[in-house]
Amino acid sequence: MTTTSTSANAVPRWFRAEDCNLEDFKQVVSAATRLEDYPYADAVEQNVLIYGPRLHSYLDDPAERADVQAELAHALTEGPGIVVFKGAFPDLGVVDRATDAFNRLIAAQKAAGVTGGDHFAKPGANDRVWGALDKLALAEPEVFAEYYSSDILALVSEAWLGPNYQVTSQVNVVNPGGVAQRAHRDYHLGFMSAEQASAYPAHTHLLTPALTLQGAVAHCDMPLESGPTLYLPHSHKYAPGYVAFHREDFTEYFQANFAQLPLDKGDAAFFNPALFHGAGNNVSTDIKRMANLLQVSSAFGRAMETVDRTAMSKALYPVLLGMKSSGASQKALKNIVASSAEGYAFPTNLDRDQPIGGLAPQSQAELVLEHLGRSASHVALDGALDAQESRRRTGAR
Ligand SMILES: [Fe+2]
Repeated sequence: MTTTSTSANAVPRWFRAEDCNLEDFKQVVSAATRLEDYPYADAVEQNVLIYGPRLHSYLDDPAERADVQAELAHALTEGPGIVVFKGAFPDLGVVDRATDAFNRLIAAQKAAGVTGGDHFAKPGANDRVWGALDKLALAEPEVFAEYYSSDILALVSEAWLGPNYQVTSQVNVVNPGGVAQRAHRDYHLGFMSAEQASAYPAHTHLLTPALTLQGAVAHCDMPLESGPTLYLPHSHKYAPGYVAFHREDFTEYFQANFAQLPLDKGDAAFFNPALFHGAGNNVSTDIKRMANLLQVSSAFGRAMETVDRTAMSKALYPVLLGMKSSGASQKALKNIVASSAEGYAFPTNLDRDQPIGGLAPQSQAELVLEHLGRSASHVALDGALDAQESRRRTGAR
């Protein structure tokens, strides 16, 4: 691309839509995904990496788990930028119970006269549950707990973001006749016009994808006619992509060259938020395509949605106590806490919430796990959560 800096050899400091060059983009996306570079993967289909159920057998040994995570991080950076986990939820009963709970949330929303609108589709064409993470935890904590004990979500979130990640979830149902989205990149810089994104210096375009992991869990079988997501593997590596995706020539190229894979219920896809993608057309007559869209934020980033993690932790704690006493694994319990409680101690009020015996005060997740470890009562936990929340507020209040 043409640089906007004075030296021909310098990295451009600003990205502008008018400087983007489709030929450069084609060069980037012409990369091939080679299965031999990914020993834990089972297949490459349309340049997308596919991980099968055998992956689960490598996840209990810490050293092997770290190897798998290194491979996933490689796939999401130098690789195609997208991975599919077949059978991410091996027990489809868990997925079905979550589907039923989501349908109850949608029905309640409709009964209350709320239109689950969508920034990409006409109101009413889709059913959307925003903020589905805390809505599910508060309405049906048992269903939340079995669903978010999922080890694949923890595996890939830690691989991309490290510990103390913050999960958010939105349920999307694209009904028959639902139309495709225009190809785009995702949060953060993907939720801006090209002009707005251009105001952020080039290095932030390269940095912010590391702050978010984008994912989707298929809650029904998604044959191609139902319009599963369209992707352009390797497109996350085109540096000025956050301004380029707004251009017509890039949109047309995407339309002619996308990958689209059918998914089965219980499969999950995770991708670098800088990957060009968009939902497909649902040309089926009878498939209500339901996906749980997971947006997982780094502890160091700012999530798109607010989540009442104190209320979630209170609602889930009795379920966690019950699971502990019936012999649930420590890993399952930790995964549920990681998906619900705030894992990071900052920002806080350092007048009142001082680090004791370390560099950071206790996080909410640590507080929940500490109470769970000694099987404290839910009354004790509720009091401790409220006290912690109060300490973290600014001194002016
Ligand atoms: Fe998107």
